[in-house]
Amino acid sequence: MRRMTRKVIIDCDPGIDDAVALCLALFDPQLEVVAITATEGNVSADQSTRNVQALVEQFDPPRYPRIGTASPLESAPALNTRQFHGDDGLGNAGLQCSRLHHQHPSDKLICDEVRAAPEQVTILCFGPLTNLARAFRRDPAIVALVGRVVIMGGSVQAGGNITAAAEFNMYFDPLSARQVIRSGVTKTLLPLDLIQQMGVNLSFLEELPSEHSRAGRVLRRILPFMFRAYHQQLGQESIVLHDVLAYLAVVHPELFQNVEMCVDIETRGELTTGATVFDRRPRAPNRPNSEVGIEIDAAAALDCLIRGLQRAGQCTS
Ligand code: BDR
Ligand code: CA
Repeated sequence: MRRMTRKVIIDCDPGIDDAVALCLALFDPQLEVVAITATEGNVSADQSTRNVQALVEQFDPPRYPRIGTASPLESAPALNTRQFHGDDGLGNAGLQCSRLHHQHPSDKLICDEVRAAPEQVTILCFGPLTNLARAFRRDPAIVALVGRVVIMGGSVQAGGNITAAAEFNMYFDPLSARQVIRSGVTKTLLPLDLIQQMGVNLSFLEELPSEHSRAGRVLRRILPFMFRAYHQQLGQESIVLHDVLAYLAVVHPELFQNVEMCVDIETRGELTTGATVFDRRPRAPNRPNSEVGIEIDAAAALDCLIRGLQRAGQCTS
């Protein structure tokens, strides 16, 4: 009997953790990755598009997703993400890719894929929410046609990671984040609080698929950079792979505890731009607008991560 798969679009800004999460999704039999849309964030728009293309070519999955090209955000903040992801976003691995022949803007591709399968597509957001906000402006009716949006971003009680108050994906494009959060789309938010429970230590490198597989070769070229960066910049021996959360929440929802909350994004604070604000008053005036992950079974999640990558290795040997 043919197993039911879930159609997903992955919107991402690769990014080392984005690359790991992409690898998991591309070889998961429960998912059909219909499109991968690049967005500016960890790297420039052009680099992000090149990285998506390079990762798909290097992983060479059984079914190729359509690829969406990123375009720059006018109000993008100048941030240095090189220290954690490398100059090229992928640990300076120098992955090559061919030229894209059919260029589809990411936001248009999101609209097309959602229209093609109404209420069936889950959108995984591994980066700033620029593309999704643009897609909702381009075709407002798709808000009601998206199955669910699963967003890695924000922070409930963990503070920020790019500023004292804000998580990177929300900070990079707070206006788009606010637009998506306030839209009526069904959504799950996976904040920093969760990933801090899920550190990955050096022994993880030994668990990666072997060099003899395409997945293993890519992962072994990009991940050591992140371990070195965390050690040098933060004095930490373990890393966190934020975007893996969004993949896990779709494929292994049983690992998470969620609560419904009313969330908004600060867009103008002098110190707090990009901060996620949760209304926890007993009689809050607005109804909850998001499901928010508050707990994860970290040991089981790490196990799923390793097993998922091993499967990617077997599929690409
Ligand atoms: C997010 O920021 C990026 O650097 C990561 O790829 C992740 O999407 C975590 O705050
Ligand atoms: Ca990311």
